[in-house]
Parts: sequence; C-alpha cells; structure tokens
Amino acid sequence: MSKEILDQLLDHDYDGIKEYDNPLPGWWKFLWYASMVFSAIYFVWFHILGKPGVLDSYESDMAAFEASKPKSVQTLGGDALFALTSDSERVGAGREIFVSKCAACHTNDGGGLIGPNLCDNYWKNSDGSPDGVMHTIKKGVIEKGMIAWEPLLTAEELENVAAFVLTLRGTTPENPKAPEGDLYE
Ligand code: HEC
Repeated sequence: MSKEILDQLLDHDYDGIKEYDNPLPGWWKFLWYASMVFSAIYFVWFHILGKPGVLDSYESDMAAFEASKPKSVQTLGGDALFALTSDSERVGAGREIFVSKCAACHTNDGGGLIGPNLCDNYWKNSDGSPDGVMHTIKKGVIEKGMIAWEPLLTAEELENVAAFVLTLRGTTPENPKAPEGDLYE
C-alpha cells in the first residue's frame, strides 16, 4: 500500500476533527479473525461437546497418584494380635523375620543396639500394647532410624513379627540396653 492511500483523509468532520482512513495491519486482522475462529471452536469443543479439559486431566493424574501410594495394610490388633503370641508357628515365623530384618538394630534377643531394648517395660513410641507395638512397626520412627515396615511386609508378616516382639517382654537379653522411654506395667 502506498503512503498516499494510507494517509487519505475521510470526508467526515466532527466539529473540526478529521480522521485518516488507515486500514488495520494485515497481521492484526489475521489475529482478530483467528481468535474468533478459535473461540468458536473452543466454545463448541468444551461447552457443547463437553470434551475433557485441564481440570479433568488434573483429576485423573491425582487419581493415578493416589492409586500409586502404598496402601495401609489391615492387620489384627488388640487381643486378637496378642493371642498370636501363644501360636508357636506364627511366633517362630516372626522370629525369623526379626533375626533377618530387625536384629541389626535390635539384636537377636531384642536387647537393643541402635534400637531400644524391646524386652523391658519401657516404651518410647507407644504404650507397648499390641496395637502400640504394631503401630510403631508399621509406621516406623523415620527420623530416628526406625524403618516403616508397612510397605515392606505382608499383613501376615507384620502380625508374626509383632507377635514375636510381644513375646520378648519380660525375657532377659544378653546385653540389655538401658531403659528408654516411659514405664508401662
Ligand atoms: C535400621 C535400624 C532399625 C531396624 C532395622 C529396625 N528398627 Fe526398630 N527401632 C529402631 C530405632 C532407632 C528405634 C527407636 C526410635 C526412637 O528413638 O524413637 C526403634 C524402635 C522400635 C520399636 C519401638 C520401641 C519403643 O520403645 O517404643 C519397635 C517395636 C521396633 N523398633 C520394632 C522393630 C521391628 C519389628 C523391626 C524389624 C521388622 C525393626 N524394629 C527394625 C531401629 C531399627
């Protein structure tokens, strides 16, 4: 376009104010029409056809994340858990787990090393009840070096090892660690 055409004065006269007829640049008009086309497609796509948008993909991502988290393991508690302490098979299985996975910190007989003595009546993280002991085993005390075993053991293994720990109480370990925590009779 030549300068002449761009600068063409229009006939209008608004109280002495005149205006030039300057057409909008092509790229500007292109964006304008493109945005209209885009908005029409957008409206039909999301509001009429109801196609999934960012919120839906956020929700499906969150659902996938929730599903990938370790599930809490249902185990026996209270008297039912304590009853396992007289089931020699399960206590025996629990001892095997204890020796292979726990003894490095608690010693084979539960006397304690890095972890506290599990044979006395003093408990740091619970009241030493079946439920309390199970809770500590499941959730661990991460900041103190006690691992959370819930994601690593099956329900039966958790019950077995907890039952074994409960049988330690009142036994006399070889090198008992000094009591830690509070006394629960
Ligand atoms: C890497 C070392 C380590 C391993 C392995 C470990 N523990 Fe522990 N455990 C600890 C420490 C340290 C504590 C004390 C946490 C604190 O200071 O509160 C503890 C605490 C405990 C307690 C609670 C004691 C109390 O006084 O409340 C129980 C029960 C226990 N562990 C059981 C187990 C069992 C069962 C296993 C094996 C499945 C195991 N631990 C494996 C280090 C360990």
